[in-house]
Amino acid sequence: MSNKGSSEDIFKKIIAHAKEYGFIFQSSEIYDGLSAAYDYGQFGVELKNNIKEYWWRSMVQYNEEIVGLDSAIFMHPRTWKASGHLEAFNDPMIDNKDSKKRYRADDLIEDYLEKLQGKVRKEVDKAARRFKGSFDEQHFMETNPRVIRNQEKISSITQRLKQALENEQLDEVRNIIVEENICCPVSGSCNWTDARQFNLMFSTEFGATADGDNKVYLRPETAQGIFVNYLNVQKSGRMKLPFGIAQIGKAFRNEIVARQFIFRMREFEQMEMQYFVQPGTELEWLEYWKNQRIKWHQALGIGQEHYRIHEHDKLAHYANAAYDIEFKFPFGFKELEGIHSRTDFDLSAHQQHSGKKLQYYDPDKKESYVPYVVETSIGLDRMFLAILTASFKEEKLEDGSQRTVLKIPPMLAPYKLAVLPLTKKDGLPQKAKDIINNLKYRYMCHYEEKDSIGKRYRRHDAIGTPYCITIDHQTLDDHTVTIRERDTMEQVRVKTDEIEEVIKKRLTFH
Ligand code: GAP
Repeated sequence: MSNKGSSEDIFKKIIAHAKEYGFIFQSSEIYDGLSAAYDYGQFGVELKNNIKEYWWRSMVQYNEEIVGLDSAIFMHPRTWKASGHLEAFNDPMIDNKDSKKRYRADDLIEDYLEKLQGKVRKEVDKAARRFKGSFDEQHFMETNPRVIRNQEKISSITQRLKQALENEQLDEVRNIIVEENICCPVSGSCNWTDARQFNLMFSTEFGATADGDNKVYLRPETAQGIFVNYLNVQKSGRMKLPFGIAQIGKAFRNEIVARQFIFRMREFEQMEMQYFVQPGTELEWLEYWKNQRIKWHQALGIGQEHYRIHEHDKLAHYANAAYDIEFKFPFGFKELEGIHSRTDFDLSAHQQHSGKKLQYYDPDKKESYVPYVVETSIGLDRMFLAILTASFKEEKLEDGSQRTVLKIPPMLAPYKLAVLPLTKKDGLPQKAKDIINNLKYRYMCHYEEKDSIGKRYRRHDAIGTPYCITIDHQTLDDHTVTIRERDTMEQVRVKTDEIEEVIKKRLTFH
């Protein structure tokens, strides 16, 4: 019924659709674009704002102990020394001397491993076709020499790469690339530079002093703005543990390879919440927030099969436990949101580097301590991509025609309703505008009179409008309209003063 073609083809179609229908444009496109930077168009910005609102309400409005913050993108450079980003926020990179292209060294190896996996899969599929019903996959995997050779290779390279990255042995990462003859996809040559660490933070100059001491960084995560304001918020808000500070804002990372459209960008937005708790209770709160966040995702009705939880075995230097909520994108399950138990790492580091106490006086225990932190961190653009890709459907209809529809969760849709007069004459446009004037203060409405009603329905399917309200001549006689629902395409005739009753259940945040 829907979405035929390989995942790659579908993803290409979604990217083209996002541009054609005003959701996402390449940044500075008229100058041939800037890679990994994107602009949100007229419908994209509405969807993005609705995602923000859904997150903000569920975090700040519905939890009395969580408050918001909007901290500056520029922060004192010592922030990044304390947080560890200056020293450790690196990816290993390598350049091809012939094509002059730069790659993430570990990505080159991981792509190679995927190719080897593909070869194994091919062998298995071929044998399954040959032996049909009598095929025993496990036996075949354990006995076929080519499969065994490739499997052994995969596990030995995976092990070597893991160790090399853990021990920061970049020469060993390069050795794997050279020994395995992994070549540049552009030049086809294996003429590689040494592998080096590449810091992902963007730097710039602050003010106009000439003493060279004015280097600042664009923040690579919004979280540090929350940590440095912990005491300001706690004291001014008279907050008691546990309490949270939530923030939505831009973050910047000079990703070596930015891939997969808005999945990995150099300028993006994060929605982060730091929850400050008593030391020793952090793992319980981690479980609590993991469950809350899964509920938040599932309340959108996208379907459980799109989500997967990954528990980290390799932890970041600041964490004592961590989960990712992964989403099934067209290119596979990938991280959508991180939920981390960050211990007292950040507050203690800022306390040490700033010389200012960042503690909490616990009136029950009658002692002061540095709180522990549980963080929830989701990329807004990644959430946008999750919704866009899961909503995109190509459907063959009963009459043989086709439609492309974005089945965006109705409360997040850019426009909630389109009001469409059947013709431009006989007072129908005026009637349509009266309806819009009545509803536009509560819902994003769109008026459209151009083209046939069928074409207008298709256009609103393509941007995900949940309801189309059609005004016809009968409306003038009996004050009724038809409401067409996007997903079922069913139409009901209702009185104009009942429109809101019909639509509001699916359009409001719960
Ligand atoms: N404060 C914790 C933190 O920043 P992270 O896993 O590096 O953790 C959190 O990032 C989330 O931010 C990710 O789960 C992802 O959704 C989003 N994100 C990270 N890098 C991104 C990028 N280059 N482009 C788009 N989103 C990104």
